Amino acid sequence: MLVSAKEMLTKAKAGKYAVGQFNINNLEWTKAILLTAQEMNSPVILGVSEGAGKYMCGFKTVADMVKAMIDELKITVPVALHLDHGSYEGAKKCIEAGFSSIMFDGSHYPIAENIEKTKELVDTCNKLGLSLEAEVGAIGGEEDGVIGGGEVADPAECKMIADLGVTMLAAGIGNIHGKYPENWTGLRFDVLAKIQELTGTMPLVLHGGTGIPADMIKEAISLGVSKINVNTECQLAFAAATRKYIEEGKDLQGKGFDPRKLLAPGVEAIKATVKEKIELFGSANKA
Ligand code: 13P
Repeated sequence: MLVSAKEMLTKAKAGKYAVGQFNINNLEWTKAILLTAQEMNSPVILGVSEGAGKYMCGFKTVADMVKAMIDELKITVPVALHLDHGSYEGAKKCIEAGFSSIMFDGSHYPIAENIEKTKELVDTCNKLGLSLEAEVGAIGGEEDGVIGGGEVADPAECKMIADLGVTMLAAGIGNIHGKYPENWTGLRFDVLAKIQELTGTMPLVLHGGTGIPADMIKEAISLGVSKINVNTECQLAFAAATRKYIEEGKDLQGKGFDPRKLLAPGVEAIKATVKEKIELFGSANKA
């Protein structure tokens, strides 16, 4: 069932667990995540970055594929189709294409402009019954070999954005997209606690879920994180399983070159990763 992320995240915040956002790249990815969420009886959020949207032939193709898949696979758990780190223009396109949830990442704008653009999208999303995620404090990551520490959000700015009526709020607390560097100093729980204190019942979002140790994930959930984004970890699992298949020469045996066979170990690896995260986040049987 395609729904906005509002109800599932409100329940998660109240129940002290988190719903996973898993980013999708193609049909296999989408199918693996949907089937695992159904098997685990867990709500789930499918994340689509602007780049992945382009790769999959546009947001409309993605929305139509996801809706048809939910129908064909008889997926009854709540599923939100969510634009990840959307631009203002990308947000509008996804709204038109039939996404049920939008992230507008205005964190690179000065706070006044972030507020203005977020506010406009709050109104549009509210009218259409869509959920909206906003961001304060850019999430770090690796770019051209330079590793950023991850910008830490100002709790007062978080409060300003939360008060605009967004559904959920992503705040940088030292988290990073991709693998964490050896010298990473961990999440800023002091800042997270302050943000939660100021924003109350607002579900908080933790980006860069790949490689965050289980104890830190649990502590983040206890401090109000109700949505956790995972992308790279599924990619690494898929790549490792595919590499193993080829290195074992399985593509050269019989019809092992058939894409349905060649991609199967990768799909199973994604399923195992998603299952593990759902268990860790505590969203199993919360559909
Ligand atoms: P990772 O790729 O580090 O898991 O981050 C995912 C994410 O935050 C998507 O917005």
